[in-house]
Amino acid sequence: MTLILQADNDKQLQHAGRLLKLGGIVAIPTETVYGLAANAADTDAIQQVYQAKNRPQNHPAIVHIGAIEQLQDWAYGIPDEAYLLAEQFWPGPLTLLLHRHPKVSPLITGGSHSIAIRMPNQAQLRQILQQQNIGVIAPSANLHKQLSPTTAAHVLEQLDGKIDAVLDGGRCSVGIESTILDLRETSEKLRILRPGPITAQQLSKVLNQQVEAPEQHDVSVAGNMAKHYQPQAKLRWLNTSANTTEPQSIILVRSLRDDLPQQQQHALGDTPEQFAHALYHTLHELDQKRVPTIWLEPLPETHEWQALRNRLHRAAE
Ligand code: TXA
Ligand code: MG
Repeated sequence: MTLILQADNDKQLQHAGRLLKLGGIVAIPTETVYGLAANAADTDAIQQVYQAKNRPQNHPAIVHIGAIEQLQDWAYGIPDEAYLLAEQFWPGPLTLLLHRHPKVSPLITGGSHSIAIRMPNQAQLRQILQQQNIGVIAPSANLHKQLSPTTAAHVLEQLDGKIDAVLDGGRCSVGIESTILDLRETSEKLRILRPGPITAQQLSKVLNQQVEAPEQHDVSVAGNMAKHYQPQAKLRWLNTSANTTEPQSIILVRSLRDDLPQQQQHALGDTPEQFAHALYHTLHELDQKRVPTIWLEPLPETHEWQALRNRLHRAAE
């Protein structure tokens, strides 16, 4: 049975913290998407997370910490750039790829010598990470390759009965996964491995050096797989309005258009922030309604939209 705990109830929050400390697996709210958390120092709990998600062992997970000082527990040879960025963007949707501390289990990192770390911007989650003095691994709380959850209800649709608890902290404020920045070799050009809410331009400005955000790269991150983030509905790109004759299909647009049937359109918002907040949430909703086909309006080719283009290209056929 999966317990539902309310993050704004102090007793229930403490209970979630103790469960995590003692080796339970608990879905947690973050500002990006819900994660499926386990105490990162507990190898049994880590393995249970992989089993519940059906996730291959070689896919590394992000360690979530509650305070900057905890960085040194998980990484070593931490460059100044990491602290600069942490001060600016943490807590927040930025994950830093660093060298794994030798005492940290390679189970977390799929055997890799690198480790991904972030401090989530969710006050109650940070409170329990600080109080229990733990870091937690937290891959998105969905079954492998499926859509990331942005509410506790979405988590339960996929994982009810397979996990100890879900901590309900309401709807995620950002709505898509964090940016992953590779900081392993700071003498070389810095690279974003997974585009996200924090853009290369923002990072470049703080570091006073150019950060690249290649549309494609060959570093193996699970988010780099061709197929990912998939809803049940078929996702197709909208080429012409002639595509959309099927009356039960839905067309996702930024804002309502005159050249498409009004009742089939669903507007997600004109800014990347609004669009990200609505995207997974809407895809979950449309799956619940068993909408067979979702048409996607192509997104602008500008850098602000890169993370969203990336997610939709991996989700669509
Ligand atoms: O916003 C987020 O990052 C969310 C919330 C829950 O924090 N988490 C998330 O985790 O998206 P997950 O596991 O679904 O995606 C993590 C990505 C994967 O693509 C994984 O391969 C990559 O981070 N990653 C983690 N550790 C890595 C490592 N040591 N080396 C390379 N890639 C790594
Ligand atoms: Mg994921």
